[in-house]
Amino acid sequence: MGRRRLQPFDGLGKRELLEHQRQFIYDPRRYVALVGGVGGGKTWALCMQALVLGTQPFLSSGQRNQILVLRKFYPELRDTTMQVWYEEVCPPDWIAQRNDAENFCVLKNGTRYIFRSFEGANEISKLTSYNLGAFLVDQAEEMDEDTFNMLCTRLRRRDIPLRTGRLVANTNGHDWLYRRFKLPYITGKLVPDYGLFECTTRDNKYLTQDYLDDLEKLPELWRKRYVYGSWDAFAGQIYGEFRREVHVEPARSIPSNWVRFRSLDHGVVNPTCCLFWAVDEAGSYHLVDEYYQGGGIVRDHAAAIKQCSVVDGAVQNWLTYADPSMFARSLQSDSISEAWSIADEYAKHGLYLIRSNNDVQVGIDSVRECLSASPPRLYISERCTNLLEEITTYQWKDIRPNMVGGRERPRKVNDHAMDALRYGIMSMSPAAKKILAYDPVMVGAGDGKTWPPPFTEKLELAIRSSYAGAERTSF
Ligand SMILES: Nc1ncnc2c1ncn2[C@@H]1O[C@H](COP(=O)(O)OP(=O)(O)OP(=O)(O)O)[C@@H](O)[C@H]1O
Ligand SMILES: [Mg+2]
Repeated sequence: MGRRRLQPFDGLGKRELLEHQRQFIYDPRRYVALVGGVGGGKTWALCMQALVLGTQPFLSSGQRNQILVLRKFYPELRDTTMQVWYEEVCPPDWIAQRNDAENFCVLKNGTRYIFRSFEGANEISKLTSYNLGAFLVDQAEEMDEDTFNMLCTRLRRRDIPLRTGRLVANTNGHDWLYRRFKLPYITGKLVPDYGLFECTTRDNKYLTQDYLDDLEKLPELWRKRYVYGSWDAFAGQIYGEFRREVHVEPARSIPSNWVRFRSLDHGVVNPTCCLFWAVDEAGSYHLVDEYYQGGGIVRDHAAAIKQCSVVDGAVQNWLTYADPSMFARSLQSDSISEAWSIADEYAKHGLYLIRSNNDVQVGIDSVRECLSASPPRLYISERCTNLLEEITTYQWKDIRPNMVGGRERPRKVNDHAMDALRYGIMSMSPAAKKILAYDPVMVGAGDGKTWPPPFTEKLELAIRSSYAGAERTSF
């Protein structure tokens, strides 16, 4: 086991590290990432890291360090990473041997740097034979997690002050870098050997003002990701308006005069998601809680959803908007002869659902309108962890050139809370009101102006009456 503390480096000359570069380079943890905006000084930090690691005094005289420097494609490795290394960072008179045909160099103290690409299985398989003191990855968002895991197994050079894997990257949504390096900081569950430092383009004082001004003219999504290093912005993102600092609120107790309702997406194989809504006096929506459960049967979902609807010790009845396809009477029941729907099954267990509207485009537009309103009309409690994860990763399908004119569609992955979100928001659309199986004004529930109407006994009866099959069974 190494000593794991890096000695101060005296080879900077007149140069000076930026603060985030210094923190990244001297961090004693095994795996450390520096992630952020373009031009933030990441490649420079990685090369300086290589120099610091390669010039550390060795623990015993025998070993020399061997450091692998990686980038996905050779042309970029050669034209950016290696160029910064040879032309800006490594003093030429420290180099004993430079071999450009085989992409390695050796310092006078014996440290060997090997520059490699990790594009494709062939290149990656060649990396499995090294006995390394460190591996350093430029643009690590282009690496997959398996390659990273494999490189971790190569860190086994003995007598090295610090064996380490260092990564620099631009953010790329909620990828494996986010999961392994960023998420522990969000959840507060830090992983001992992992560290993360973040930078924006503006943290690099060596960039010129006109370069920074030009970046400000780029589209917002691009700026959020490439200038400000946002993990929540990526190409094809559906809810680009969503901002954690604006739309997420702490768990709170809900005033009793706020109207409550639920929205439900039932999954047979996929998770079932129920969202719990509250509408404040100004008509803004607050998503206060979620139920999110993979597998399971309707009886258990219904019971758990009711358990989440307890206020002051009593189960409350709220309207529950659901996927209209749940009302298709395609199931066979043992107890009655007629066909049966999933909605009937929920009703049997005391949860009377209302058809929402499943127009995906209109639903998404309505959510976006609420998010972008000023002040926003949609807030999400920090308790809704699955909803928050999905809203930041929800993405359009890749549009192929021959699909021009075709309608955009969301990717059907991790969208259960997203579907429930649409069913809830569509509950107030005129179209959704029209397709309800009852008229709340007629049954005396509410004045038709505020929506959804408060839950009353009359309303409950009206909804129940649409469940003929369910009514016939006793529950
Ligand atoms: N500590 C420093 N001292 C002097 N110049 C620096 C320093 N750090 C970075 N620079 C300069 O800032 C510029 C941008 O740095 P660098 O290329 O490392 O950024 P980057 O984050 O890797 O950018 P990209 O996202 O485009 O890959 C370069 O011209 C580099 O020489
Ligand atoms: Mg770079």
